[in-house]
Amino acid sequence: MTPPTMATTADQGVPDVTASRDDVRLMDHAYDGIREYDNPLPGWWRAIFWATIVFSAGYWVWFHVVGWGKSPDAKYQVALGEYADQKGTREKAELRNISEDTFSRSASDPKLLAHGQQIFATRCASCHAPEGQGLIGPNLTDRYQLHGTSRMDIFKTVRGGVPGTAMLAWGEQMPAADVVAVATFVVTLRGQNLTGKEPQGQPVESYKRPTTSRPNACCLRSTRTGRAITSDPSSRTAGSSRVDAWSALR
Ligand code: HEC
Repeated sequence: MTPPTMATTADQGVPDVTASRDDVRLMDHAYDGIREYDNPLPGWWRAIFWATIVFSAGYWVWFHVVGWGKSPDAKYQVALGEYADQKGTREKAELRNISEDTFSRSASDPKLLAHGQQIFATRCASCHAPEGQGLIGPNLTDRYQLHGTSRMDIFKTVRGGVPGTAMLAWGEQMPAADVVAVATFVVTLRGQNLTGKEPQGQPVESYKRPTTSRPNACCLRSTRTGRAITSDPSSRTAGSSRVDAWSALR
């Protein structure tokens, strides 16, 4: 549609403003009888506008052409990498001192168990129910296990969580000693078979007798019996060898 000319709009009764001193600021077109002032934007506004264009050119060269500047995303990736490194180192150090043995020994430590129970009540009961019989999270009192088959697997699940589920990585929320305490408490819940959530995962009838995770355990000799301490549980006699293994390692 071609815009109406001055002549036609004038015919339609647009007031003649040519005599007014605003005349100079009126633009020489009109649409449907509407005329427009030529109001230039203020100088400060245009200055900012041009400054942003100059700045964006500099930004583009600095960050994207030459690559002198690190983008927030790149900085985040670097920080994330450093965090993962530190976490890996910390976890390795923690794991060096924790084994199946730790949990079977801790299970007979009433102070540690009480501490674990208290943590369970405040941090875990909301999902696993106060007695551990399961709610959102699995029943921890049956002899089924979703992740792994050992006490260490329980500990690892508690510490590292299960990504993509409601189970958090509790190792990031509490000190390692607390994770050990609550994992020990969880281990002691097994076999109570409380009525609750139906079993999930694979049946794990009983945990293997603890074996030491030290790499050279095969070659250590028991201080008491003089026998070699082996990591093969079948070649050990119950009870005494575990104590021997621990005292030999200390
Ligand atoms: C917000 C809910 C929630 C809380 C709180 C929670 N869990 Fe869980 N937990 C889950 C869910 C869901 C799973 C099952 C994950 C899956 O599907 O593999 C789970 C799995 C587990 C498992 C693995 C069981 C198996 O069969 O392998 C253990 C052990 C466990 N939780 C212990 C704990 C402990 C200890 C705490 C407290 C420190 C805790 N959970 C707090 C939801 C929770």
